[in-house]
Amino acid sequence: MSGLFITATDTGVGKTVITAGLALSLQSAGFHVGVMKPVQSGHLREDPAGDGMLLKRWTKTPEPIEQIVIYDFSQPLAPYLASQKEGRTIELMPILHSFHQLQKKYDIVLVEGAGGLLTPMGRDWTIVDLARAMALPLLIISRPSLGTVNHTALTVYTAISRGLKPCGVIMNTASREGITTEEMQSDNADLIEQFTPLPVLGKMPWLPSLTAQAIAQTFQQQIDLEPIRKLFNRR
Ligand SMILES: Nc1ncnc2c1ncn2[C@@H]1O[C@H](COP(=O)(O)OP(=O)(O)OP(=O)(O)O)[C@@H](O)[C@H]1O
Ligand SMILES: [Mg+2]
Repeated sequence: MSGLFITATDTGVGKTVITAGLALSLQSAGFHVGVMKPVQSGHLREDPAGDGMLLKRWTKTPEPIEQIVIYDFSQPLAPYLASQKEGRTIELMPILHSFHQLQKKYDIVLVEGAGGLLTPMGRDWTIVDLARAMALPLLIISRPSLGTVNHTALTVYTAISRGLKPCGVIMNTASREGITTEEMQSDNADLIEQFTPLPVLGKMPWLPSLTAQAIAQTFQQQIDLEPIRKLFNRR
């Protein structure tokens, strides 16, 4: 095992920002870290605003973008729908091929999912099956606001019932509108720890400017990296 799969309770919750923060923090801790966004919709892979290019730019990984984003769709649709509209099929094998190449090269490969755990990838498979095929532990990103306890617990128990190994939850404030009181965030974090077996590793605040430096600095101040570091005991 030499990586982590990053999922969330929904789309737009903060997988890309947290994946970048985690990659930068693990890099600072001395690990050689690669990133992957195997299935991307809404932006073609070369688009600087797409997740693949953001991750590549923020983490300064040198791979060609084709090795980071394997399937790209211009329409902002769920990947299975986008693939159907373009008459294409998302297949596991090309994704795993690139993933294994990256695994050979890096200490840790961080893989950002798409949407949430049950986001469809094909007629009979979802993100759960991708995470399982990669045999990676799971990090769950959730909102800090009202409704998050239910969404997070649904994600945690879906993961466990499908044989995945979630290692923790990070709460992220992705929008100015999503800003809540410190009290509400802490209450929700406590409830997540009470009603699921997972620790909440921290709360990432809303950042007015998303630069690699701001993401890395805030991540390191707010998130407990230790449980994740322990997954990657140095060989
Ligand atoms: N901590 C933050 N501070 C400020 N803006 C944020 C923060 N986290 C996320 N955002 C913004 O919120 C939006 C959604 O975040 P992000 O792209 O990381 O979510 P995602 O879960 O990766 O979404 P997708 O399902 O599309 O991959 C983006 O526009 C991002 O720039
Ligand atoms: Mg993303």
